[in-house]
Amino acid sequence: MVKKLEAKPTVTIRGVALFQGLLSPGEQVRIVDDLRDVARDAPFFRPVTSRGQQMSVRMTSAGAVGWVSDRRGYRYQETHPEGGQWPPIPESVRAVWARVAPGARAPDSCLVNFYAETARMGMHQDRDEADFDQPVVSISLGDDALFRIGNLTRGGKTESVWLRSGDVLVMGGAARLVFHGIDRIRPGSSTLLPEGGRINLTLRVAR
Ligand code: SIN
Ligand code: MN
Repeated sequence: MVKKLEAKPTVTIRGVALFQGLLSPGEQVRIVDDLRDVARDAPFFRPVTSRGQQMSVRMTSAGAVGWVSDRRGYRYQETHPEGGQWPPIPESVRAVWARVAPGARAPDSCLVNFYAETARMGMHQDRDEADFDQPVVSISLGDDALFRIGNLTRGGKTESVWLRSGDVLVMGGAARLVFHGIDRIRPGSSTLLPEGGRINLTLRVAR
């Protein structure tokens, strides 16, 4: 089958391009299946911030490098915190990047965040990467999440949008370094994950 290449955003908020409903139910199931293999090889862990605070999400990665956070700070590294390399980024996931960021370099890192009922993500910028000309692509799977978009500096007015399973968003160009976060998820709003909750995949060119 010839895959539909180069999707068009359904809405753009503060330069963040949102592709609502981009992934079909079948594509979502395929990606979740592939993520089970990733999590078997690179188990989810609960990161702490440099101040020693537990983050509420559980995370793991695929790709040449994975994003980790511990008492030494945030960084990309070639190994899982418990040792061993990260598994490759599944083809089902790399295909999404090709549709929404066709001109960009190939991603070398895919962060996998799991949000249980009460997990959230504070406002932050994605700025641990070497080349801010490369976009960040984010895939939502499972329960709905309230995504907040701020400004290029901390604070100021924000806008929020509910992300649903199968939505994809791109932070690129002038919006590459926009502050963003997840205020809350809506438990039970999706049946994609049998155990409930939400998975967010963040694809990046880290190096
Ligand atoms: C993140 O920015 O790290 C996660 C965003 C999301 O979960 O949608
Ligand atoms: Mn982020």
